[in-house]
Amino acid sequence: MSESPRLGTFLDALDSDLPLDWNQKSFRGLPELRSHILDRAGLSGLCQPDDVLITAGTAEANYLAFMQLVQPGDEVVTERPGWPQAGVLADAVDATLKVIDLEEASEWSLPLDAVEAAVTYRTRLIFLTNPNNPTGRLMTRRELERLVQIADRVGAWLVVDEVYAGLEWEGDRAPSIAGMYNRGITTGSVSKALGLQGLRTGWMICRDPDLIWDAIILRENSSEIMNILGEVIAEIALRPDRYDQAMSAARTAGQKTLERLDRFVAEQTRLEWIKPQAGLIGLARLDGIDGDVFAKRLLAEPYRTFLLPGSSYGMRHHIRLGVGGGVAANLDLGLERMGELLANWQG
Ligand SMILES: Cc1ncc(COP(=O)(O)O)c(C=O)c1O
Repeated sequence: MSESPRLGTFLDALDSDLPLDWNQKSFRGLPELRSHILDRAGLSGLCQPDDVLITAGTAEANYLAFMQLVQPGDEVVTERPGWPQAGVLADAVDATLKVIDLEEASEWSLPLDAVEAAVTYRTRLIFLTNPNNPTGRLMTRRELERLVQIADRVGAWLVVDEVYAGLEWEGDRAPSIAGMYNRGITTGSVSKALGLQGLRTGWMICRDPDLIWDAIILRENSSEIMNILGEVIAEIALRPDRYDQAMSAARTAGQKTLERLDRFVAEQTRLEWIKPQAGLIGLARLDGIDGDVFAKRLLAEPYRTFLLPGSSYGMRHHIRLGVGGGVAANLDLGLERMGELLANWQG
């Protein structure tokens, strides 16, 4: 994620008389916030503010979509590597998970023929991330159109977690799925590009009014109604002038750090990666080294450096390299120590 702004950044726009109750507020979330979300996602004109439900982050939006749509025995199709929440939720409802491996040899692309072959009349939901976490691969409009065709053939729902959208390094932001398919559900939040994950403010966007209404009812049993302060600050952060400024700073910082990481990877003989097309993380392959063993040694003395092993994504020979977090992440020191461990690696 991008460096997190301080509360002071928003104080000039906050109203000290703001009531902190729910009275007179829309259960769907602040209307101005919902319309900013559509604007920023390129969905104005395609979706209406009532197609947006504000949730406690992307995590809750994904949860609500799964829990209301998927029944025991249904099939869920997802990607590997991808956001592990899909597997956890499929297990929780006793659904059958069908996993499609992204093709590292073709820059982590999603093999659409394999998706087509996996999708059947039992497929209730397809869950993908775009940009992909953890590879930073970006699906194009054509790929998304093909996915819509595949889902539509059997009436499956298509959930695309777009939490990393907005930080594209190659090409434009991909179109948002909610504008392309009536059973398309976009999930996202202010957590990543804007670095505001502590606000716990995200969304689900879908043109099917029943889906949104059912999600409102289900949310009564999770976060219940609205996080008013989170919504108010998110609304300020998504105003066009503030958003453009924050995104331009996030892009400059992200681009610089990404170049730094890319140079680092190029210098290591036992490490290679496909540079992320978008987002702030990428997946690097370790030559002949187990990712878990490597991550554990790196965390121990004398290196004391944290990274996520690829096994978290079902990829044992990879490690995840993160770009975000600003100066607090201490990237240079971490890379120096990782370089040392790689250079000294035996066995
Ligand atoms: C792909 C993906 N989805 C969802 C989340 C959760 O984000 P949020 O803070 O919006 O709940 C993350 C966080 O890392 C993520 O990477």
